[in-house]
Amino acid sequence: MAERFPESFRTKAKLVVYREFIETRDKVGNMETTMTTAVPKLTALHPRIPSNSFSLGFSLTFPAKKSARVKQTCSPSSHISLRVSSSSQSQAAPEATKVSSIPSEMKACVYGEYGGVEVLKFDDKVSVPEVKEDQVLIKVVAAGLNPVDGKRRQGKFKATDSPLPTVPGYDVAGVVVKVGDQVKGLKEGDAVYGNINEKALEGPKQFGSLAEYTAVEEKLLALKPKNLDFIQAAGLPLAIETAYEGLERTGFSAGKSILVLNGAGGVGSLVIQLAKHVFGASRIAATSSSGKLELLKSLGADLAIDYTKENFEDLPEKFDVVYDAIGNS
Ligand SMILES: NC(=O)c1ccc[n+]([C@@H]2O[C@H](COP(=O)([O-])OP(=O)(O)OC[C@H]3O[C@@H](n4cnc5c(N)ncnc54)[C@H](OP(=O)(O)O)[C@@H]3O)[C@@H](O)[C@H]2O)c1
Repeated sequence: MAERFPESFRTKAKLVVYREFIETRDKVGNMETTMTTAVPKLTALHPRIPSNSFSLGFSLTFPAKKSARVKQTCSPSSHISLRVSSSSQSQAAPEATKVSSIPSEMKACVYGEYGGVEVLKFDDKVSVPEVKEDQVLIKVVAAGLNPVDGKRRQGKFKATDSPLPTVPGYDVAGVVVKVGDQVKGLKEGDAVYGNINEKALEGPKQFGSLAEYTAVEEKLLALKPKNLDFIQAAGLPLAIETAYEGLERTGFSAGKSILVLNGAGGVGSLVIQLAKHVFGASRIAATSSSGKLELLKSLGADLAIDYTKENFEDLPEKFDVVYDAIGNS
């Protein structure tokens, strides 16, 4: 089991604004997403590795595109002020993190009814969430959206969802501006990141990360590694938890081989890297469309399969594990 990530460990971003939101760009305009992100939060995910190994033990190599930019638009006419520009090499906290006072109301993306992307609205009068004793209040610098946000908005988890209206967003990176009475390990000014929902589908938080502030249990957060900027950090939590947990559930271990379906996607790109650098896979094959084959190889795949031209089921080779990370599945 590898104890540290090599210099080259990197990841294509989890598609922080997933496909449906990207399609929204065409409908509402002005949504831009250029994400390049790196390195997992594995202190919580990998019990065998001491927590400081991950913040200190490796550095990153980024793909050619080094800047990351998120501009979110909740409605055609309004821009939420979550817009963040950063560079993978710039570690300075953006202006937005210098918080001297906490307002009672904030800007957020909200929906008051289930439906398509059109139900998402910009609201500049959302109450800043109260902080419970085991929680911290985060001034959000970057937020990540995952497929679950879209499915939730469509009402697919209605039975176990929190009440409407909902501020979406599970993934967050930002700065702690307030701590609850029982919080022991975090303090004001800490740069943190994480997935704000302990259980994705059972009562996810009503006030998520697509807002200026979000309240999160301390136990769900980790200090942001210094070699990740906020956008990169917000691109990781849910996808890498999924990637890691899937590998763990299969009992994946050193010397085993794996076929990753959708190896270029948010989850799949992390599966490849975890399988190779953390679990010690003996061989990795992965599928993607034609334009992403080089990415697969750069992430660590030994065999890159173009799913638009080849059927992986026709491969003569057998694998110990097949990890299906296909979007829309
Ligand atoms: N992201 C998360 O945190 C998370 C958490 C839990 C579960 N999941 C689930 O995991 C799945 C993947 O999520 P994701 O966020 O990784 O998705 P994603 O990055 O949005 O993946 C979408 C990509 O899947 C590729 N794809 C579609 N059909 C394919 C096929 N037959 N073979 C290979 N690739 C194919 C497409 O690539 P091309 O554009 O190249 O065709 C598409 O761009 C989804 O079902 C999601 O619900 C995700």
